[in-house]
Amino acid sequence: METMKAGLYISEKNVKVDTLEKPTLKHGEALIKVSSAGICGTDMMIYFGKHPRAKAPLAMGHEFSGIIEEVNGESAFHPGDRVVIEPTMSCGKCDACLSGNTHVCNTLGLIGIDSHGGFAEYVAVPLHRLHKIPDTLSDAHAALAEPVAVGIHTVRRSNVKVGDTVAVLGAGPIGLLIALTAKLAGADKILISDISPYRLSKAEELGFIALDGRKVNVVEEVRAATNGMGADVVFEVAGSNITADQMIHVCRTQGQIVVVSVYKQPPTIDLAAMHFRELSLTTTRCYSHSDFATAVSMMANGQIDVTPFISHHLSLDEIEKGFQLMTNPEESLKILIQPNA
Ligand SMILES: NC(=O)c1ccc[n+]([C@@H]2O[C@H](COP(=O)([O-])OP(=O)(O)OC[C@H]3O[C@@H](n4cnc5c(N)ncnc54)[C@H](O)[C@@H]3O)[C@@H](O)[C@H]2O)c1
Ligand SMILES: [Zn+2]
Ligand SMILES: [Zn+2]
Repeated sequence: METMKAGLYISEKNVKVDTLEKPTLKHGEALIKVSSAGICGTDMMIYFGKHPRAKAPLAMGHEFSGIIEEVNGESAFHPGDRVVIEPTMSCGKCDACLSGNTHVCNTLGLIGIDSHGGFAEYVAVPLHRLHKIPDTLSDAHAALAEPVAVGIHTVRRSNVKVGDTVAVLGAGPIGLLIALTAKLAGADKILISDISPYRLSKAEELGFIALDGRKVNVVEEVRAATNGMGADVVFEVAGSNITADQMIHVCRTQGQIVVVSVYKQPPTIDLAAMHFRELSLTTTRCYSHSDFATAVSMMANGQIDVTPFISHHLSLDEIEKGFQLMTNPEESLKILIQPNA
């Protein structure tokens, strides 16, 4: 049995480097030698023992890029190709899948949650989950196509139009990427709130109006910036009870709220306040295959530059440190693990 090195989730707050069997390929799969893999909020949920599906021992990591080492089956992909992995795995049989909406499959799974992912030297990936990385895009940046695709899908599901004022609650990687995409979609003023000075400084660096939720009244600030009306579109990306309440009050009459957060506890929201002003509420999940391809293309042509998002590059041996850094929003934004560096 050939083995490889992997960063494994063992139990609550316990991630360590160990050996795993090197994957062997089934028909229709490629063996990927992982270049870069991002640590995401979902990996943190697994790390804290709170993910409903992830089973230890697991090589997490669903945001990753690499180089094809071997292909089993007829394909347009070949050994040596640089690729990024679209990690969603759908059943192909449920109503959502049959109507072409595989990203809301009834039993949607993700590589890195339901099977071993990118925090390992090698991963076996179905060929239909691969996207080629254009020459102008590095492997490290391409690894972030997944969160970029979340931003693209979210903004595509919103009503953001040229000249709109947008409020984003939460300046984590996803909130910031949504803000960036809303700008590309034509938004004029973009206000983004957080409670972490580091993340607020990132928001400012990217050209957004940063609101410190610990120091100012976010609802009043958004209203003041919009002649008392409120934002045309509000994205809730902080996942807290406070922001789930604020989203209603920062939204203009007949405006739209888009909930992106995955709440650890169901928040209480004031539906009466929503009805009174005819607010609409939209939710969003992952991305479609076309959103993912768009993410790769917009990163390759320079419209979306993820350089400011990457706070650390770490080796696989440093994975534990990576998870510890991720527990503090003051110290990290996007951490990339490089299993073969
Ligand atoms: N819909 C989807 O498919 C999808 C995909 C990816 C992530 N998500 C969800 O999106 C959310 C954001 O993801 P992320 O990776 O950016 O997470 P993150 O934890 O890095 O970001 C959340 C941010 O919210 C901030 N925050 C906390 N309380 C706040 C408050 N009261 N006011 C303002 N800001 C506050 C935090 O400081 C942090 O910067 C998470 O809930 C995640 O689960 C959803
Ligand atoms: Zn993710
Ligand atoms: Zn399905």
